[in-house]
Amino acid sequence: MDNMLAKDSFNRPIISLRISITSRCNVKCLYCHHDGVLPQESEMTADEIFKIVQIAKNLGIGKIRLSGGEPLIRSDIVDIIEKISSLNFKDLSITTNGTLMEHYAQDLVNAGLKRVNISLDTLNPETYRYITNRDFLESAKRGIKAASKAGLDPVKVNMVVMKDINHDEIWDMFQFCKDNGAVLQLIELLKTESCPDADFIDEYHYKMDSLEEELAYMADEVKIRAFMQDRKKYFVDDGEIEIVKPMDNTEFCKNCTRLRITPDGKIKPCLLRNDNLVDIIGAVREGRDDKELERIFIHAIENRKPYYLIS
Ligand code: 5AD
Repeated sequence: MDNMLAKDSFNRPIISLRISITSRCNVKCLYCHHDGVLPQESEMTADEIFKIVQIAKNLGIGKIRLSGGEPLIRSDIVDIIEKISSLNFKDLSITTNGTLMEHYAQDLVNAGLKRVNISLDTLNPETYRYITNRDFLESAKRGIKAASKAGLDPVKVNMVVMKDINHDEIWDMFQFCKDNGAVLQLIELLKTESCPDADFIDEYHYKMDSLEEELAYMADEVKIRAFMQDRKKYFVDDGEIEIVKPMDNTEFCKNCTRLRITPDGKIKPCLLRNDNLVDIIGAVREGRDDKELERIFIHAIENRKPYYLIS
């Protein structure tokens, strides 16, 4: 099975594809890196997205995640999920801010969505407004409940941890997640070229080392997620906490098995760099055959370099 997977020159297999299907978003998070690219107007059609995932499937990629911007802002989101789902990927998920989820959860499940990550950094309305510049906390919370209820599994809550903004809410968030059948995923602030304010990231960066020590002590079990950037997963008090530390982390790069697609249809081999993007949508729009599209993908894969190991 492993032999079928495309590998880069650092022997990293490509297992998952993360497609940013729009730059549009209904919240304006202070730290948002827009999946590593500056927001852009152009978007791919549902059929173009389908063609790209079809090629990914041919190359052995088993996991598809849609992100944004906010993917649920696209009026054809259910159609996109339905199309991708017809290819029977091992995993099909989205990352969303959850504010529109209550309206879509059941339709998305019916269309074949398997799981979801919902961004929520706080349970405090003022802090929510400060981070997102919007007052959508209650709809985001309802979105998490609706996702669980519709059977998405797991529902993960992405909490970007920021010093003096929300770091003291970790345990309240954990309780909220447990109460709603969700896993808490704690994410370290990451600085990329596409962040709106680099100084903000430096100022509010929160190191999770002592928290990790505390979790290791408390946990009934700790698992390391191989092929998922070696993220640690802690099982505590009948709940689950995962930690994502992308910043200055050679392990994050060494075990990265992802490829990305930008909203304007470029293959993006690394979240942290924009100097090795490979255009794929041009060839899709010209109607090139599958073999040629596969070659473009393979070219992008061959150009993958682990950012923190060699830059
Ligand atoms: N640092 C860390 N995570 C970020 N995200 C977006 N910007 C950043 C950043 N600067 C992640 C969050 C959010 C998802 C959409 O993207 O996890 O939930």
